[in-house]
Amino acid sequence: MAADPRDPGEQDASSRRKILKIGVGALGAGLVAIPLAPALGFLAYPLDGAGVAGETGFLAVGKRSGFGADVPVRVDLYADRTDAWNRTKNVKIGSAWVIEVEGGLRAFSTVCPHAGCAIDFDPAATKFTCPCHRSFFTLKDGAVEEGPSPRALDTLELRVEGGLVAIRFQRFRVGVVEKVVV
Ligand code: FES
Repeated sequence: MAADPRDPGEQDASSRRKILKIGVGALGAGLVAIPLAPALGFLAYPLDGAGVAGETGFLAVGKRSGFGADVPVRVDLYADRTDAWNRTKNVKIGSAWVIEVEGGLRAFSTVCPHAGCAIDFDPAATKFTCPCHRSFFTLKDGAVEEGPSPRALDTLELRVEGGLVAIRFQRFRVGVVEKVVV
């Protein structure tokens, strides 16, 4: 016998079936989304611009009085990092060499433009140097003096405000002549 649509009992049963279908559908979507979440987060990372809080901003690295001429000072830059699930405070995002040149400060990335090794300071030669393939760079402007680096050291934007030095950290493509932000 066909169910009477006017029967209140049948209407309740029909509503329960609809709610059950919606619930099962939502549960299924949730189960699919859980394993995909890290991948989706990874895909969203470069798009939402929230990968490293402050990465595009200026990060304080110390007092102006802490930097002088002749001997560069290496500083580490820290920022809060956010991904799809977590926010981690004070993650090291990079380093820079800071030196005073003609009364002003300059900051150079410590990433070698040749293949990405860490740039060092050679006090005997009074030059920046890369130990990987022996590139040498001037202290004044980071120009290549010797070695395979295809370009000068990458300068970073630097500000002095209220006696504090702040640097805007960026990464650049290695192995190419042009300075290209990555
Ligand atoms: S990585 Fe620096 S010279 Fe090759």
